[in-house]
Amino acid sequence: MIKKISSTETHQLRKNVLGENNPDYQFIYNGDDDQTTFHLGYFDGEILSGILTVMQTDETTFQFRGMAVLQSQHGKNVGKKLLDFASELVKPNAKTIWLNARKWVIPFYEKNGFTGEDDFFNIDGIGLHLKMSKLNTF
Ligand SMILES: CC(C)(COP(=O)(O)OP(=O)(O)OC[C@H]1O[C@@H](n2cnc3c(N)ncnc32)[C@H](O)[C@@H]1OP(=O)(O)O)[C@@H](O)C(=O)NCCC(=O)NCCS
Repeated sequence: MIKKISSTETHQLRKNVLGENNPDYQFIYNGDDDQTTFHLGYFDGEILSGILTVMQTDETTFQFRGMAVLQSQHGKNVGKKLLDFASELVKPNAKTIWLNARKWVIPFYEKNGFTGEDDFFNIDGIGLHLKMSKLNTF
């Protein structure tokens, strides 16, 4: 089941999954508590096993960020379901959805309809990223 959660509820998974090898990982993001930002949680019973944050970056543009699935639940379509759910929610207002993909996760986003730009960029402590986006034809 997917439902909206608070920004604080994302912290543990962000820390453990996205910050796995990085004790300095900044698991609180700018904009987390903006009025137009929302956070989705995928629940297996009581257990929060996946998260995704959606931030509006202009009137018709939305950023997906903080995508993380519990290690033990990888490969069970939790990530895909979160992306699909979030895409449906923003669909009435979105022209474009974009995200910054970690290099090794690019094929996951490609499978889910995102296209990468040409140039990688580095985020200190995490590594190479690629900006990816999809237009509202999903
Ligand atoms: C990336 C992540 C969110 C994917 O979530 P998931 O629930 O494991 O993925 P799904 O089961 O929904 O995968 C859907 C499809 O993408 C594929 N896929 C998933 N992760 C992939 C990866 N890293 N590389 C290539 N393909 C991948 C799956 O094989 C599946 O393909 P299929 O439909 O052909 O079988 C998850 O692995 C994760 O949390 N990783 C660590 C944190 C992270 O890197 N987050 C992204 C930051 S940009």
